[in-house]
Amino acid sequence: MHQCGVTRGAAAERPEWILSVRSKSMHPTIPSQRKRGRDWRVNSVHLERPREELLASYAAALKRDPGFSPRPAREQLIAIERDPKAFLYELCASAPTSDAPGALHRLLFWLSDGEFCGELVVRWRQGTNTLDQPTFGHVGYGVVAWKRRRGYATAGLGLLIARLRCSGEVPLTYLDITTSRDNIASQKVITANGGELVDSWESSPSHAGAPALGYRIALVAQ
Ligand SMILES: CC(C)(COP(=O)(O)OP(=O)(O)OC[C@H]1O[C@@H](n2cnc3c(N)ncnc32)[C@H](O)[C@@H]1OP(=O)(O)O)[C@@H](O)C(=O)NCCC(=O)NCCS
Repeated sequence: MHQCGVTRGAAAERPEWILSVRSKSMHPTIPSQRKRGRDWRVNSVHLERPREELLASYAAALKRDPGFSPRPAREQLIAIERDPKAFLYELCASAPTSDAPGALHRLLFWLSDGEFCGELVVRWRQGTNTLDQPTFGHVGYGVVAWKRRRGYATAGLGLLIARLRCSGEVPLTYLDITTSRDNIASQKVITANGGELVDSWESSPSHAGAPALGYRIALVAQ
């Protein structure tokens, strides 16, 4: 379950800090910027903590594509219906959900262009940059199918990195991001944001046994 760190009250309020970029044409690190003449759809995309105003849009996304979220869609829809504030509170809790050794802290963000577009999650083990399972990586993200190929994931990861560098919300000095070797879109998202290839696996437990690549992005100056 992806989670992000805000308090119960704060989860339901509009977050104090919403970062945004205009995707594709405005993102400073997107190489595609230089592709003159391409008909990019330009929309302003924001990185936000989960909040009540976007919850209906999030629920609509779960109904439209139940497989998009790593968490079971039906359970989430029931929880939203039952108690929206409690749902947001749960979603925004950053502490590990179990006492198991190696349980991870998580910080969840939503991407929005006025509607819910996708999510990014940062996960880490307290007190260390190292993960028990390196192929898992510190960052996960996904964009809903009907909003892909607009530059949202690239912009979203850029916003996340900028935010983490400035805010110190996570105790990490770098982000390790992994992706399966056949996920060309994800590799482009990472490299467009300065990811350097540092690892590769012929079979990754975090990618259903598929070959995977590991990238690193510094959060603090090395
Ligand atoms: C991977 C994913 C997040 C990309 O989201 P997105 O918003 O479509 O990505 P962007 O629009 O920023 O595209 C980034 C680049 O990938 C390219 N791209 C996007 N989808 C692609 C596809 N299906 N095949 C090939 N290239 C693709 C884009 O053209 C762009 O390339 P460019 O920078 O050279 O122009 C999205 O496809 C997704 O949610 N997939 C399922 C979950 C997933 O794989 N998450 C990553 C886990 S590591």
